[in-house]
Amino acid sequence: MSLSQRKILIGITGGIAAYKVPELVRRLRDHGAEVQIVMTEAAQSFITTLTLQAVSGHPVHTSLLDPAAEAAMGHIELARWADLILVAPASADFMARLAHGHANDLLATLCVAARCPIAVAPAMNQAMWSAPATVANCQTLLQRGVYVWGPASGAQACGDVGAGRMLEPEQLLLAVRQHFQGVLPDQRLRAETFTDYTASLNASPLQLPSPLPQILRDQRVVITAGPTREAIDPVRFISNYSSGKMGFALADAAARSGAIVTLITGPVSLATPNQVTRIDVVSAQEMFDSARTACQDADLFIATAAVADYRPETTAGQKMKKQKGAPITLTLIENPDIVGTIAGDTQNAKRPFIVGFAAETQNVLQYARDKLVRKHLDMIVANDVSQTEIGFNSDDNAVTLVWAEGEKVLPRASKPTIALQIIEEVALRLAQKG
Ligand code: PMT
Repeated sequence: MSLSQRKILIGITGGIAAYKVPELVRRLRDHGAEVQIVMTEAAQSFITTLTLQAVSGHPVHTSLLDPAAEAAMGHIELARWADLILVAPASADFMARLAHGHANDLLATLCVAARCPIAVAPAMNQAMWSAPATVANCQTLLQRGVYVWGPASGAQACGDVGAGRMLEPEQLLLAVRQHFQGVLPDQRLRAETFTDYTASLNASPLQLPSPLPQILRDQRVVITAGPTREAIDPVRFISNYSSGKMGFALADAAARSGAIVTLITGPVSLATPNQVTRIDVVSAQEMFDSARTACQDADLFIATAAVADYRPETTAGQKMKKQKGAPITLTLIENPDIVGTIAGDTQNAKRPFIVGFAAETQNVLQYARDKLVRKHLDMIVANDVSQTEIGFNSDDNAVTLVWAEGEKVLPRASKPTIALQIIEEVALRLAQKG
């Protein structure tokens, strides 16, 4: 869902989690939102106005009594401008001031003057979060209709472990998008639902407890993920650096969008996403056999796996012994092209919509366009794997979607975020296909 035309005012208060805000701003803007930033004095000890001005594209507002800033956009105008105020991180002190209606700095004043919804993303030490005063302030805010997003649990900057970590930027992005779509489970969290809400967030810190829009409801989706291993002998194999993260993120995004998902994966060490049927395979041939069977009955097939194009012609029955000083020659033979074969199967009247990936280190778009045609795909995800921060075995990715009539760049973001964007784009094309 696009956030274009949405005006979001981010309030930053003093907390170490302020370092995550530039990423949040970037992601909101990637989705089309206009973002302005207000910082408290304490926040400026953690992150600079310059950084935030650069990422938001607007001057940052810091002072209630700055005549220049007031002339540019007064606090009442800022309050009227916003469609949503998100205070992230929200410190214990700020939550206390908000609960008591203080108007002693720009951010607090704005919140008192605002008519739009206000959300807070608490971030503080776990003892402060569970302190009776904070609990009471939080309940007051909830009773007044303020959204409380998080906190999550985990290791804290101070060394403690417990509830009090700010939600990750991608979780906050999801909450904002769901807020504007009207699909948050409890838009106005009341005191009595608060405990359950935080408990469910803490139980699953990577996901919000709410469902995504059901854009793939009841669609049967098959996804391949991870590497394959091609055995040389009982203890050695040929493989690659795929971690499975991209494919697993796609399976999770598809399942949360209502699809019935089968995930066929090579050897990886990742937990199976909720509501996903997982089939473990090792070699390309095994992945081929499983994918062909699963795709007989699928609406959508996404081939994310990094499949070995070749395998040793023979696999030694016993561990190969070292031949001192003598080179060893391995003869490799071609593996089946899984996605190419399934996409080119003209006998299958119920051929699924097929999305491939193209992992390339040079001429990325050109090679991807060639593969789209050569492998008879409906869409291909061009993935530049020459950089270590994206692509293989990284947490982020940056890709270009290519199909016969168009292309779409998805700038660098976490793999779950990229996965959601791919699923949204694919769902759109599926719907257009009828
Ligand atoms: O797993 P991660 O660490 O998260 O990394 C993600 C990724 C980089 C592996 C992923 O984003 C990606 O780019 N996957 C495609 C990897 C690949 O093998 O690309 P390729 O250009 O060699 O293959 C093109 C397409 O054909 C792919 O959809 C591939 O799954 C498919 N293929 C390839 C060979 C083969 N024998 N059978 C296939 O189906």
